[in-house]
Amino acid sequence: MPSVFIKTYGCQMNERDSEAVAAQLVAKGYSMANDPLKADVVLLNTCSVRDAAEQKAIGKMSHVASQLRSKNKNAVLGFMGCMAQSRGRELIDKLPDVDLVVGTQKFHRAADHIESLLAGRSEIVVDTEEEKGSEATIREHLLEGASDKKSVTSFVSIMQGCNQFCTFCIVPYTRGRERSRSIEDIVSECRDLVERGVKEVTLLGQIVTSYGRREIGDRDGKSAFVQLIEAVHEIDGLERIRFTSPHPKGYGDDLVEAYGRLPKLCESAHIPVQSGSNEMLKRMHRGYTRERFLEIIDKLRAVRPDIGITTDIIVGFPGETEEEFEATMSLCREVEFDNAFVFKYSTRRNTPAAGMDVQLPKELIEERHAKLLAEVDRIGAVRYENQVGETMQILVEGPSRRNKARMEGRTRCNRIVVFDGGERFRGQLVDLKIERAGSFTLYGDPAILN
Ligand code: SAH
Ligand code: SF4
Ligand code: F3S
Repeated sequence: MPSVFIKTYGCQMNERDSEAVAAQLVAKGYSMANDPLKADVVLLNTCSVRDAAEQKAIGKMSHVASQLRSKNKNAVLGFMGCMAQSRGRELIDKLPDVDLVVGTQKFHRAADHIESLLAGRSEIVVDTEEEKGSEATIREHLLEGASDKKSVTSFVSIMQGCNQFCTFCIVPYTRGRERSRSIEDIVSECRDLVERGVKEVTLLGQIVTSYGRREIGDRDGKSAFVQLIEAVHEIDGLERIRFTSPHPKGYGDDLVEAYGRLPKLCESAHIPVQSGSNEMLKRMHRGYTRERFLEIIDKLRAVRPDIGITTDIIVGFPGETEEEFEATMSLCREVEFDNAFVFKYSTRRNTPAAGMDVQLPKELIEERHAKLLAEVDRIGAVRYENQVGETMQILVEGPSRRNKARMEGRTRCNRIVVFDGGERFRGQLVDLKIERAGSFTLYGDPAILN
C-alpha cells in the first residue's frame, strides 16, 4: 500500500485535522512516511494566518516537487487546510506539480481524492466548496498504537469557523461561519478516547466561547460551552479538561464560575488579548475593552489564584502609535502573563485592516516586537522562578522532546516539567517537587516520586 507524508503548519485545529486525515488513510491500509522524498503521497496542511506561514508551505512544496516528481511520476502532491481554502486553484497555477487541493470543509474527502489520483482516475482535484455538516467529520484519532506508547492527551474539535471578523484576521474566510458539533457527539468521542487510555482532552475551536450559541443556546444561565464542559466532566476516567481558544467577549461569569466548581477543569487559560489599547481594540473589532479584559483576569484569579494565563498579542497593527504600543506593554506588566505569543502584524488580503491607512514600516514592527518579547520573557521568567520549591501535580505525557532520556509532563496550569523517570510513568499523575526553572520549562526532582 502507498505511504503518506503529512506536514502540518498553523494552529492546533490544523494538527487535529491532520491527525484525522492520517487516521482515515491508515484505516484504508496506507502507511505513514517520515521522509517526504520517499513517500507516494505528500500532504501539506497549511496555515494562512500570517504571510510567513504561507511562504513556508509554498517553499516546502516546491522543494519536494522538484526532488520527488523526477523519481516518482505518479506521486500525489497535495495542499490541504487554510491556504488551500483561501487560494484554491491558484496554487496549482503557481506550482504545476501539485495535483490535489483540499479545503477546510473537505478533510474527510481527502482519502477518496488520493485514491482516485493514485489510480489515475483523475489528474487534478480541487475541492474547496462549503459543505453542510462538515464540522462533525473530524472524528478519527491516530493514537500511538503500542500499549507502552499510548497517547495521554488528545485534541477534540468541537466547532469550526468564526463569526467575529477581527479586522486583521483571515480565519473567518478560511474556516467559514461558526458551526458546532452536538454535545452528545463530542462526549462520545471523548469517552472513546478515555477508553483508549487518554487522560486529558483539549476542546478545540477558533472561538470556543461561541460554541453552540445558535444550535444549543443558554440553559439555566449557562452558555452552551459551559454545558458542554459539564457533560465532558462527567466522563469517568478522564482526569483533565482544557480548551483553546476562548474569546474575551464571550468569557462570562458562568465560565469563571465553572473553574471554581469543576475540578477536572485545569487552572490554565489561554486568552488572546491582541492589544492593551482601547482605541486599537476598537480598530481590530475585538468587542471588549482593556478594562473588561482585566476584569476577567481578576475574576479568574479570585476563583483559582494559581491559574496560569497566556495570551496572543499583535504588534504593528496599522496606525499603532507609540502610546498604543506602550498600553500593550503596560497591560503585560499588569497581568503578568505566564507567556505571550507576540506576532508581527502581517497584512492579509481582503481583510479590512489591509486597506487601513498608515501601514507601519517593517523596522518599527521589528523593534516593537523585540521590545515586547523581552518584557514578556522577563515577566514569564519571574513567574516560572516563583514555582521553584513548590510541589506540583504532573500528568506524564512521554519522553522529553529535548532529551529523550528524560520524561516530561505538564502541570495543571500548563507548564512543562521535565524529570528523570522512565516509561512506567507515562499516563500517570505524579506529584513532583520543582527544583529549577529554565526558559518556559520547569525541572522536577524525581526523589520525591512515590
Ligand atoms: N481565534 C483565536 C486566534 C486565532 S489566530 C482568537 O481570536 O483568539 C492566532 C493568533 O494569530 C491570533 O490570536 C493573533 O494574535 C495572530 N494573528 C491573527 N491574524 C494575524 C495577522 N494578520 N498578523 C499577525 N498575527 C495575526
Ligand atoms: Fe480571527 Fe478574531 Fe475569529 Fe480569532 S476571534 S479567529 S482573531 S476573527
Ligand atoms: Fe492558521 Fe487556519 Fe489555524 S489560518 S491559525 S491553520 S485556522
